[in-house]
Amino acid sequence: MKRIIIQYGGTGDLALKKLYPAYQNLMEKQYSFSVLALGRRYTTREEFLLNSVSPSAPASFTDNLDYLYYDMADTDAVSILTKKLRSMIEGSDEVEFIYYLALQPSLYEDAIHQIKAIDASLDCCCTLTKKIVVEKPFGFDLESALRYNEILEKAFTDKEIFRVDHYLGKEFMQNLLLMRFHNDIIRRIWDNRTIESIQIIFDETHGVDQRLGFYEKIGVVRDTIQNHIMQIVTYLTMSEPASLSPEDISVEKEKVLRSISPVREFHMGRYESLGVNSGHVVQTPTYAALKLFVNTYYFADIPIYVRTGKMQKEAKSLIYIKFKNTTKEVMHDQSIAENGVIITIHPELTIDISMNLKMPNTSWKSKPVRFRFNQSETFGANTPEAYEQIVQKILIADKSLFPTMKEITESWRIVEPMLESDLVGEVYPIRTLPRFASQLAKDNHFTWFDETQIAKP
Ligand code: BG6
Repeated sequence: MKRIIIQYGGTGDLALKKLYPAYQNLMEKQYSFSVLALGRRYTTREEFLLNSVSPSAPASFTDNLDYLYYDMADTDAVSILTKKLRSMIEGSDEVEFIYYLALQPSLYEDAIHQIKAIDASLDCCCTLTKKIVVEKPFGFDLESALRYNEILEKAFTDKEIFRVDHYLGKEFMQNLLLMRFHNDIIRRIWDNRTIESIQIIFDETHGVDQRLGFYEKIGVVRDTIQNHIMQIVTYLTMSEPASLSPEDISVEKEKVLRSISPVREFHMGRYESLGVNSGHVVQTPTYAALKLFVNTYYFADIPIYVRTGKMQKEAKSLIYIKFKNTTKEVMHDQSIAENGVIITIHPELTIDISMNLKMPNTSWKSKPVRFRFNQSETFGANTPEAYEQIVQKILIADKSLFPTMKEITESWRIVEPMLESDLVGEVYPIRTLPRFASQLAKDNHFTWFDETQIAKP
């Protein structure tokens, strides 16, 4: 079978940084497909390759990477692409087109209409199958997501549609489910009888000026909260699925999302130098802190605190599960620390359980110490990148790592108040935590998790 990924946004940040390396790895692992990158930045394939692919990239990849100068606004766009595709599939009996949209959400509608027109005018005498892959954010808000979906479903069946959230391709996400559902000891403590609160911290050191054209219309809520963060919340709090099949998992995820009320307690801001070189003032939020609740029987009353955004001093991605601390009352010792589970995603994937153990040379004094699992020490460093897992699943038509439209719809509903807010918010100096993040902690009587709280193993 001849399989072609038609890469919309083929010269964009995502394609260059994440997708092409994933394609290259998969081709090296003998997955058979070719890629047609579409873009406006270069006129020829030579120019595209020179600027987009490392000179040391293997021929198994570059031989299968083609380029087409493609301007969606051009009236001839459809016929130019149709002609190119016809020439690429000439002589093949069996063909699969994978349309991969890595575009501004505002361009989806046009792209889908063009794909429909290409489909109608291809008249190939072969068995033709197709898939469409749509990057997050799926839509711009609830209303546009529903509208895009309606258009999409007129041209593709649900089986052919892959809505991407690359976090589902991450090892730590899949590990969350296994950790929770393959361990009796965890299962028994993972609910509101034992957990006091949950923190999700995703601090990034980079800014967005390099991709300002995309980001300034998107902002932190559409970029990471509506998708990555909501997916993490579902994996942390969903009930056990009847099986680990995509359908059974999504039933449970949907229940979680449906139980969450629209976010009311939130703050947003942007870093001071955002867009300074762009010649106009950019007010897009690049950092947010919020609180939400999952109102299911087992998770009601556990506050979930989230903080995430750009231009922070340290890259820090972690989830902190803080357990209730009844011990300090029972033992009449306020210095006894709480137990916790810390799932660190960045700088490296580790899972720590903190427990209080005796400090040597003391009389009945304990200190929190941690028991650590380190992914690369235990399993080696060769875990495939998230995008490689995502693309591999698309190739083999396995929908287990893709959010459903219902999940996406519910996630938009939850973040809607944040989108509606015309709050200019705080302007924070780069490399500093916005004041509102500390304020949220103060207002809610908690402290953001800090590595130094627990002694190293
Ligand atoms: C992307 C966002 O989806 O996820 C980026 O657009 C963000 O802004 C990135 O930096 C984080 O992903 P990862 O894989 O680097 O954790």
